[in-house]
Amino acid sequence: MMATMPLAAASPSAPARTPAGDVHRPQYHFTPARNWLNDPNGLVYYEGEYHLFYQYNPHGDRWGHMSWGHAVSRDLVHWQELPVAIPETDVMAFSGSAVIDWKNSSGLGKGGRPPLIAVYTGHDPRTGSQAQFLAYSNDKGRSWTRYGTGPVLDIDSTEFRDPKVFWHAPTKRWVMVVVMAAENRVALYTSPDLKSWMLASHFGPAGAQGKNWECPDLFELPVEGRPGETRWVLSVNLGDNAVGGGSGGQYFVGDFDGTRFTPDPSWGEAPAWMDYGADFYAAVSWNDLPKSDPRRIWIGWANDWRYAESIPTYPSRGAMSLPRTVALRKTAEGYRIAQAPVRELAGLRSNHRTTSNLRLGEQPVVLAPHGVEGGAVELDLDIDTGTADQLSFVLTDGQGYETLIGVNPTVNEVFIDRTRSGPHFHDGFPNRHVAPVDLRTGRLKLRIFVDQSIIELFVNDGTQTITDRFYRGGGPLSWSAVARNGTATIRTLDAWTLADAGADSSRLARR
Ligand code: FRU
Repeated sequence: MMATMPLAAASPSAPARTPAGDVHRPQYHFTPARNWLNDPNGLVYYEGEYHLFYQYNPHGDRWGHMSWGHAVSRDLVHWQELPVAIPETDVMAFSGSAVIDWKNSSGLGKGGRPPLIAVYTGHDPRTGSQAQFLAYSNDKGRSWTRYGTGPVLDIDSTEFRDPKVFWHAPTKRWVMVVVMAAENRVALYTSPDLKSWMLASHFGPAGAQGKNWECPDLFELPVEGRPGETRWVLSVNLGDNAVGGGSGGQYFVGDFDGTRFTPDPSWGEAPAWMDYGADFYAAVSWNDLPKSDPRRIWIGWANDWRYAESIPTYPSRGAMSLPRTVALRKTAEGYRIAQAPVRELAGLRSNHRTTSNLRLGEQPVVLAPHGVEGGAVELDLDIDTGTADQLSFVLTDGQGYETLIGVNPTVNEVFIDRTRSGPHFHDGFPNRHVAPVDLRTGRLKLRIFVDQSIIELFVNDGTQTITDRFYRGGGPLSWSAVARNGTATIRTLDAWTLADAGADSSRLARR
């Protein structure tokens, strides 16, 4: 029997005053009440609760003292922040995952109930060593105990991190996918009990490469419209050199036999991107959704390592993306993922307005009379690009700053332009992000979610997405639409205001 170390949960950080300058805080994207947040960790569903753990600094609003923060939700929309789950000890608690050990294979369950097991990277700040640690909880993730005094998997490396563990039913084993970061490779391990791990295979380098690979995931998806057909998606994030200019995610589609991931024979060399913006990173998916819910849902960190520590938000720095379903489609380019915000978000909608056949030309059309108003908005659009060479939705802040969400039909691009979106705070920020979209038919569907400082754009049923943050000067947002060098038509526009998901008493009490 190995010694165990209880991981005392720190009490929640003291409530912060509500600063007048907190204008950038999203209303329906998760943010901690205060301090620094990065990657989502330990996503697991258990007894009616979705758990969202995350990289968190309990002591400040920059990266450091990495611990697992914790929030729970019953609907993926309203989150309640809980005390720190896994604090920094002799090692920082870097990214990792959590599972329900249904059969108590680890022997760490209590009273006939399965334990929650977290597998995470312990990073030793003195030596730089990175190895995989295990902690368990017998009280629905509220308190955690480290298993043993040291790691369960150590290969004597400083670049070995972010284990994603899941149960592989056909081989009746646990599988871990973990990065050998600087080599741009993933390693796959298997285990009967979560405590002893055996190397099974490697994958990579492949696709896009850079300084490092981080935060991998591996899951099976049905192919849309092809009953009985499934494929495996291996996703991996890239610390730099991604399509948005900094950190971002890519994926591979292929097969997994319990030991080895093999990309589809038709899978090309060109990287497939999870998102074309700058602010969707480290996305990983939930484990253990109930059998009645066949969805695969992931969530990303809405930030970019280039400027993550400089973003002008206070008193918290770091937000999550919307939780998104991930589906798989066979397209002309081959297998591609399609993402959509979880349907539960519709519960926040109010003030629904529909407009048909709104003609756009050189004169900007103010959108408030069409129900598009304020900083927490959802838009559903069916667009005919007409003769225009650009059409755009313009978000202005009354202080001369503007952010564009637009379409360039002549070059088959959808874009977000934040080159003039707010006061300068980092050279890496003011840029324009582009997704390639076939616009030869002149028709396109857009879903736009704006939440104070976050834009999530879903193109043609989520075949492409662009996620970007923007930090305006300060005034309230107003919306208009405009076409350049011709006309375009919004065939239908559905607009909703989205309620503040953080307006529950528990969250207000903490602010
Ligand atoms: C990704 C990452 C992970 C690491 C964590 C540390 O953003 O660099 O590789 O585990 O952040 O906070």
